[in-house]
Amino acid sequence: MTLGIGRAAGKVILFGEHAVVYGRPALAVPVTQVWAEARVEAAAPGSGVVIWAADLGEEIALRHAAADQPLAAAVRLALAAIGAQGQGSGKAEVGTGRLSALDFRPTPEPDWRITIRSTIPIASGMGSGAAVTAAIVRAIAALSVAPTPNPQSPIPPVTDATPPPLAPAVLSDLVYEVERLYHGTPSGVDNTVIAYGQPVYFVRGRRPEPFTIGRPFTIVIGDTGIRSSTRIAVEEVRRRWTQEPARFEALFDRIAQIVEAARAALAAGRPEQLGPLMDENHAVLQEIGVSCPELDALVGAARAAGAAGAKLSGAGRGGNMIALVAGEAAADVAAALAAAGATRVIVTTISPAVGPDFVQRAI
Ligand code: PMV
Repeated sequence: MTLGIGRAAGKVILFGEHAVVYGRPALAVPVTQVWAEARVEAAAPGSGVVIWAADLGEEIALRHAAADQPLAAAVRLALAAIGAQGQGSGKAEVGTGRLSALDFRPTPEPDWRITIRSTIPIASGMGSGAAVTAAIVRAIAALSVAPTPNPQSPIPPVTDATPPPLAPAVLSDLVYEVERLYHGTPSGVDNTVIAYGQPVYFVRGRRPEPFTIGRPFTIVIGDTGIRSSTRIAVEEVRRRWTQEPARFEALFDRIAQIVEAARAALAAGRPEQLGPLMDENHAVLQEIGVSCPELDALVGAARAAGAAGAKLSGAGRGGNMIALVAGEAAADVAAALAAAGATRVIVTTISPAVGPDFVQRAI
């Protein structure tokens, strides 16, 4: 019997990756063509929580999983946050940026089989890890009727059959904590855009702002097929920044200007102005050292096929690139990317904010 289902869309960073780690702004949007889903089902008494990562063919028993196993951590944090009874620190200090529930052990442990499926490519800059965590937390929150509500729980006690939607800020904090297990010290942009499910203007440490999209626009996303570790890319940039701080600060400032120009163009309903800004952002990312021949090849192919601009998206050194297209050009650019070696191509139209409930319902 299915007890709860949670879903979360993927995302792309339009502008600002890497500089966002150094306090500059970034613009990111959900991509609803790809998503993660977690389904909680009742299991045999005494079985405890078993997580089945269907795409990876991996089964994890919660009671034997290490504190830093990301899928188990997502389940523990969700259980602590909904106020389940248990041992360990078991409290989610949401809003302080510090959660201390990774060692939480629910007692009694519920008997659940949690099946996770995702169509989001792994380690490709589309927020796969954050979306899986968000889906798990949403699925558990969707079935939560805490028998004895925890007074420290950030989620109000459930009083009727319909659980209240999980506040995006609460979800975002929980997802961030698991992101730290994947990425070390992430800026927070991934968990924010995925939890809010709408375009966000993000500055580390500040409340995220939805940004206005005056007119919808279309981007083509091309995957190099190369898996790339965000943690390693971020560490490499930090090493170079340490060696040449002034030069890298200037590059990050340039990216910040591009982000502000892009935000203004979008608000004014002039998305066509994003093309040259994407080209410029890609050039700065090349200087920072996070592009690679395969990304440059896809970016070049998209431009040659009529894209108004193109850039890598996410941590770089593999993963995805994005290209801005107008009208008819989408099909040509998509075909050119496939011919140039993209392992997967997604065409998506970015519209004004739709909100997390839409994302949860629409997928
Ligand atoms: O997770 P990705 O590949 O979308 O990259 C995250 C973006 C970075 O700015 C490189 C890192 C971060 O924490 O913001």
